[in-house]
Amino acid sequence: MSAQKNHSGPKRNGAPQAGQPRRTAVITGVTGQDGSYLAELLLAKGYEVVGVVRRTSHDSYERIGHLLDRLHIVPADLLDQHSLTAVVRDAKPHEVYNLAAQSFVPTSWTQPVLTGEFTALGVVRLLEAIRLAHPEARFYQASSSEMFGKATQTPQRESTPFYPRSPYGVAKVYGHWITVNYRESYGLYAVSGILFNHESPRRGLEFVTRKVSHGVARIVRGRMTELRLGNLDARRDWGFAGDYVDAMWRMLQRPEPVDYVIGTGEMHTVRELCEIAFGHAGLDWKQYVRVDPAFVRPAEVDLLQADAGKARQELGWRPTTSFAELVTMMVDADLERVK
Ligand code: NAP
Ligand code: GDD
Repeated sequence: MSAQKNHSGPKRNGAPQAGQPRRTAVITGVTGQDGSYLAELLLAKGYEVVGVVRRTSHDSYERIGHLLDRLHIVPADLLDQHSLTAVVRDAKPHEVYNLAAQSFVPTSWTQPVLTGEFTALGVVRLLEAIRLAHPEARFYQASSSEMFGKATQTPQRESTPFYPRSPYGVAKVYGHWITVNYRESYGLYAVSGILFNHESPRRGLEFVTRKVSHGVARIVRGRMTELRLGNLDARRDWGFAGDYVDAMWRMLQRPEPVDYVIGTGEMHTVRELCEIAFGHAGLDWKQYVRVDPAFVRPAEVDLLQADAGKARQELGWRPTTSFAELVTMMVDADLERVK
């Protein structure tokens, strides 16, 4: 089938005009870090928000507890085609944000097949749900700078070739290209946001920024005496998650579907992260941090740095939070929690 334009729907420039129906957005991964910030953003813009949650034996509403009375929570799983199709068929959303994934890179080596099922094939299942049940929906895919992996140029931009270094990165490359393919094959409004690392006090405990901020808080409170980390030389472009969900929304408001790189353009090492985080609590990181080979990866991504010039120009997007502000915000939040 040749590409067809199918970009119907109301004009999207923020809050709905008087007399316009509320817009509806479906978020997969609403219980995750980004899902919680995106749900807040869309609710503030007047959207009806449908949050997709997979069934677990205990609830995972830690990050969205404060939003539950304003969200529609629906059950579905990235592994289950029918449940995804039912969500899209019933909600008939204007926008679908696919944030759900197995998102922790080290786990992708121990569970490579499951990571492929969630993070790669989950994307095509959701695209199929949209194609069959409600092709007018605009689709956002949470792509990742991990796709650049052993980067062939620095900084990385939309045209930089992919060279993934983990089963997670490989799965995200599939998710990226299947999104592009459904746009080109079926004329869906489907975009891929290539986001660099973004963090917050809601970040999962195993990711390095939160592991450090939480570690600092536990050391200060006398619950721990040392923090074991892997590669201190790794360099990342770290931003604040609250800024990045705004970029996701902006990508779905454009007249045409286009992919963008999102990041701060600044790179820092894990060592610098430790310096700022421990320093903020009045500690010398060298006295507490130990390198443990157990946290070194089979194949490392040495450095990631974004060139988000296209997003700046076309989306008017800019990060608002510096690296030092981000790290100290996370340490303060953990000091408050670990009392
Ligand atoms: P996260 O905190 O790990 O959240 C992942 C979400 O996916 C959780 O809500 C999780 O639900 C859900 N999920 C996992 N498997 C599922 C399944 N089989 N069916 C339905 N839901 C499932 O991740 P995040 O940091 O918010 O990232 C959001 C997305 O952006 C992910 O796709 C990630 O790969 C991508 N990304 C993240 C970054 C970053 O730096 N944060 C950068 C680039 C791209 P449970 O609560 O039930 O576990
Ligand atoms: N997690 C972790 N734990 N990372 C460590 C540690 C440690 O003890 N010590 C050093 N690092 C280094 C890792 O080797 C990596 O180079 C860097 O810190 C960042 O690791 P993570 O915070 O786990 O994030 P990531 O870069 O692997 O992946 C995150 O960002 C991607 C975007 O580039 C995740 O959010 C992915 O889902 C996301 O796509």
